[in-house]
Amino acid sequence: MKTRFALVLALSLSATVYAEDTSADIWKAKCKSCHGEDGKAKTKMGEKEKIPDMSNPDWKKRHSDEKIRDAITNGSKDNAKMKPFKDKLTPEQIDGLVKYIRDLPETAAPAK
Ligand code: HEC
Repeated sequence: MKTRFALVLALSLSATVYAEDTSADIWKAKCKSCHGEDGKAKTKMGEKEKIPDMSNPDWKKRHSDEKIRDAITNGSKDNAKMKPFKDKLTPEQIDGLVKYIRDLPETAAPAK
């Protein structure tokens, strides 16, 4: 009885939760080691390679979805540490990551 309830619940939730869950899972598995859980790149690799804080509103403004998608798909032309993921992720998964990066909680805008 309990199992069946859980199954029904899981099925009814899966349509809405699935996409986001997988992006977060992929982020944790493949991106977090360099970019950090929060996208701020406060990691060893982040400091060494001066990876930008992708949660920063200014960064987001300067990077269109297209640009972000291109960086994930084809890697960065400026830094080979950012590898192309086109052979490792599907276009749908990459789209999910673009959205995930867009939705990273923003840092306070820098005082100017
Ligand atoms: C081995 C470390 C490493 C991993 C793992 C990694 N990245 Fe990066 N990433 C970098 C570095 C270094 C840069 C900075 C590149 C540059 O300066 O152009 C970068 C830059 C980026 C950029 C911005 C490119 C730009 O135009 O400024 C995006 C978007 C990005 N990464 C997404 C991801 C996603 C999504 C993943 C996981 C699927 C990921 N990265 C995994 C190292 C990594």
